[in-house]
Amino acid sequence: MIRVIRETRELCESVSSMKSGLTLVATALIAAVSGATAATQAPARTPDIHYTPTRQNVAEAMLTLAGVTNTDVVYDLGSGDGRLPILAAQLHGARGVGIEINPTLVETARINAKEAGVSDRVIFMEGDLFEANISQATVVTLYLSTSLMRQIEGKLKSELRPGSRIVSHQFWFQGWPADRTTRVDASELFLWTVRPGVSDLLLGARRLPLARRGPRLARPD
Ligand SMILES: C[S@@+](CC[C@H](N)C(=O)[O-])C[C@H]1O[C@@H](n2cnc3c(N)ncnc32)[C@H](O)[C@@H]1O
Repeated sequence: MIRVIRETRELCESVSSMKSGLTLVATALIAAVSGATAATQAPARTPDIHYTPTRQNVAEAMLTLAGVTNTDVVYDLGSGDGRLPILAAQLHGARGVGIEINPTLVETARINAKEAGVSDRVIFMEGDLFEANISQATVVTLYLSTSLMRQIEGKLKSELRPGSRIVSHQFWFQGWPADRTTRVDASELFLWTVRPGVSDLLLGARRLPLARRGPRLARPD
């Protein structure tokens, strides 16, 4: 009888240890699956253009064409793996912001920024480029499409401050002649500088470029 009780207890213990082993395996599987899901999250909506990276030498030429310096804030709209803001920080000491709809690419860009040692100067945000607040940009980089250039032109003109530069890889604004163009290999690059609009002229100093605004005066008591 005692032997039966002991064997039963041993059986129970081994089943219980199998169960906890199975629980561990199941937990590991769930973690792996959810980890995989996090690494390849789907965008909130269908991207307007699929991902094609700008080649490194072309990206460098875009930043040179825009005359990027360490006082610039460079926004890449549809930032892919983050190479344009990262290069702007690495090569020119600028600050960079990437707006990207695909969360997997946003994650990749953050890892790339860390590896490049510039994660203190660049930020990548998951979002729709049409809804992003771009008013702090002094340079905007684009690699989109003809139809997206048509759709984004009004936003750029209304939100960017006069003096901001826009540089585009391959695509141009139909009714806004570029200030400069250049070619790198087979890629054409275009540069525009935002001019004061009618509302800027009417509002005067309120929308002057930051560098040209006078010091803020203290109110007299
Ligand atoms: C042609 S790739 C350019 C990537 C990067 N700018 C470069 O030059 O290497 C266009 C990028 O825009 C992103 N995209 C498409 N529609 C978007 C939207 N509505 N808002 C933000 N990003 C978008 C795509 O996921 C893709 O990464």
